[in-house]
Amino acid sequence: MVVLRVPDSISIQSHRGIYEACFTPDLLNDPSALLEGEPHFIIDSNIARLYSTQLHSVLSHPNVILVDATEQNKSLESASQIITTLVAQKTRRNHHLVAIGGGIIQDLVCFIASTLLRGVSWQLVPTTLLAQADSCIGSKSSINVGDAKNIVGTFYPPTKIYIDQNFLRTLHQNEIHSGIGEILKVHAIDSAESFNRVASSLEAITHDLDAIQPFIYSALTIKKRYIEVDEFDEGIRNIFNFGHSFGHAIESATNFGIPHGVAVTMGMDVACQIAASRNLLPNSESARMRTALRLNYQPFAHIPIPLDASMNALLKDKKNSSTELGLILPVGQQANIEKVMVPPNEEFVDQFRHALGAIAQ
Ligand SMILES: NC(=O)c1ccc[n+]([C@@H]2O[C@H](COP(=O)([O-])OP(=O)(O)OC[C@H]3O[C@@H](n4cnc5c(N)ncnc54)[C@H](O)[C@@H]3O)[C@@H](O)[C@H]2O)c1
Repeated sequence: MVVLRVPDSISIQSHRGIYEACFTPDLLNDPSALLEGEPHFIIDSNIARLYSTQLHSVLSHPNVILVDATEQNKSLESASQIITTLVAQKTRRNHHLVAIGGGIIQDLVCFIASTLLRGVSWQLVPTTLLAQADSCIGSKSSINVGDAKNIVGTFYPPTKIYIDQNFLRTLHQNEIHSGIGEILKVHAIDSAESFNRVASSLEAITHDLDAIQPFIYSALTIKKRYIEVDEFDEGIRNIFNFGHSFGHAIESATNFGIPHGVAVTMGMDVACQIAASRNLLPNSESARMRTALRLNYQPFAHIPIPLDASMNALLKDKKNSSTELGLILPVGQQANIEKVMVPPNEEFVDQFRHALGAIAQ
């Protein structure tokens, strides 16, 4: 058997210097590195419960805040409550925050770190597949306000990321599908061949965590190339929103009843269908991608997605101009991922209705 070894770390250049995403398979056995310096821990309450033994030394530290990882808690109100506690803990600028959890805890802690005392450093222990393979690098924080998802945020990278794949063993299968959605997205951006490589391993990576590691590594390596040239998302990095405008609309219209990366997978399917109906993408390319996408979101395909609520949410997307939707679509013979401006007219609404309807079939 060939055992694929991936390097121990990936270095990322950012506006605040170089930071490293380190593969640390022994972190849960020995989390003492997390206790160095003056840490203030913000931890997903599910992680605290599931890993109470392995993380005993961390959980016994005097500066621990537990947070339920819900979209409702990814809010200014929750950030304000956490900041109040951090102030009571006498956080100083030479202290640092440590986030232990998935994308929700990451977004909250990144946002707080970038604003508390005008900036304190922070470290990240991503515990979901989505966070390990995608969100942990790239500097972004995003906070929801009302039903506007990820509408407030900052760019503020962590100083260090510890990736221990052992956390994934307790992840619900739905969250595995969610992470695979973002892995499919990143590889679709790289090339049709990269996407096909994930697609042909889909069965294995859905059920065998050991098969996932090379795809976590390749996803981070592909994303690194883009965030190092466009950290502030002013140009080429926009294409990492493939599946996201539609995905956020689907999440919002279903009251966050569908995990983020699964909604993104549905969003990529919608993007493929709309691109094909507008003659931007050959039907054969749309069909090629849809097979893998449908397989990944299948367990959620029965959930009704109301068109009106989805359209309302889509109209609030950050990438829109004042008159047009800014959509990220696969375009041309190679299904290149590109930004396309589309008027939200009757023709578009019809195409959107049809694409949402096809998810359930
Ligand atoms: N900042 C970014 O660049 C970025 C990128 C993509 C997504 N996001 C955001 O990330 C969020 C989604 O994050 P996510 O998918 O990582 O999950 P999450 O943080 O929403 O967590 C999902 C569920 O899994 C649980 N969980 C976490 N780790 C676990 C583990 N090891 N074992 C068992 N259960 C565990 C959580 O408690 C929660 O119930 C969304 O809000 C999305 O907008 C941010």
